[in-house]
Amino acid sequence: MSRSIAPLLCIFLLLATSSASAFNITRILGQYPDYSTFNDLLSKSGLATDINKRGTITLLAVPNGAIGDLASKSDDILKRVLSTHVVLDYYDPMKLQRMKEKTAKMTNMFQQSGTAAYDQGFLNVTAKDGTFVFGSAVVGSVRDSKLEKSVMNQPYNVSVLGISKPIVTPGLDGTMAPISAPPPKVPAPKKSPVAESPAEEEEAESPSQEEEAESPSEEAESPSEDDDDADSPAPSPNADSAPADAAPPPSSAGKLKASFGLFVVLASVVAAY
Ligand SMILES: *[C@@H]1O[C@H](CO)[C@@H](O)[C@H](O)[C@H]1NC(C)=O
Ligand SMILES: *[C@@H]1O[C@H](CO)[C@@H](O)[C@H](O)[C@H]1NC(C)=O
Ligand SMILES: *[C@@H]1O[C@H](CO)[C@@H](O)[C@H](O)[C@H]1NC(C)=O
Repeated sequence: MSRSIAPLLCIFLLLATSSASAFNITRILGQYPDYSTFNDLLSKSGLATDINKRGTITLLAVPNGAIGDLASKSDDILKRVLSTHVVLDYYDPMKLQRMKEKTAKMTNMFQQSGTAAYDQGFLNVTAKDGTFVFGSAVVGSVRDSKLEKSVMNQPYNVSVLGISKPIVTPGLDGTMAPISAPPPKVPAPKKSPVAESPAEEEEAESPSQEEEAESPSEEAESPSEDDDDADSPAPSPNADSAPADAAPPPSSAGKLKASFGLFVVLASVVAAY
């Protein structure tokens, strides 16, 4: 839980201390007609305002001809997707060249949303074929957004790098295969609430995936952990006490688990503020 509180505190501190903007991203991109659609989308989604509140960013901008279906997304999803194109550090081509091992993991602005999970808030950049290729750091995601050029930079506050196509982060818009664990198959009632709470906390930490994505993914690694839970002898006490009425108890226990999970989420949100 403390992991989700720290970024929020950072945001509050930044908002409280930064009144003067380091730059105006709308005005900067306005000088480059090739990126006018991307610029419009930054404003339409409201992300431009958030970007301008920061002191140091690298924007991975997509040229008009490669915008694809970005323009047809709802403002809410658009903002999430675009926020993965904003790196919370300064990178110009020279700094990319100096990377150790010719690869790096970069934090993007979606990480600050508090809803990022499974590395959705990180990018992977890797030297390849004489250029650099960007993509989501989520395991199994396609990474083929090539660095085309340095559009502009103002060291060390803002750098705009032109990339060949939008970065696709699995699970952001609900159209990709989910990356979350499926819901437990057998909600087993447990006697001790103390023993139960750690497991409930794990489930409560990723409510966004459960909303957005409900079927299991080929790429997902976590279902196997859940299978372990399901195979564990936990259901047997229930079967011992009422073998004939096995069905009703799990369903009411499932409701209990769900409402307890919701309570944990609400409690953590309240705690974060
Ligand atoms: C940023 O620049 C745009 C375009 O020039 C302008 O419309 C907008 O008001 C500016 N925003 C701020 C906060 O100055
Ligand atoms: C510009 O970047 C430098 C170095 O990252 C930072 O210290 C400074 O606060 C930034 N300027 C503004 C106005 O945020
Ligand atoms: C980025 O992805 C490549 C290819 O999957 C991998 O080899 C590399 O270790 C990753 N870089 C980092 C910093 O995780």
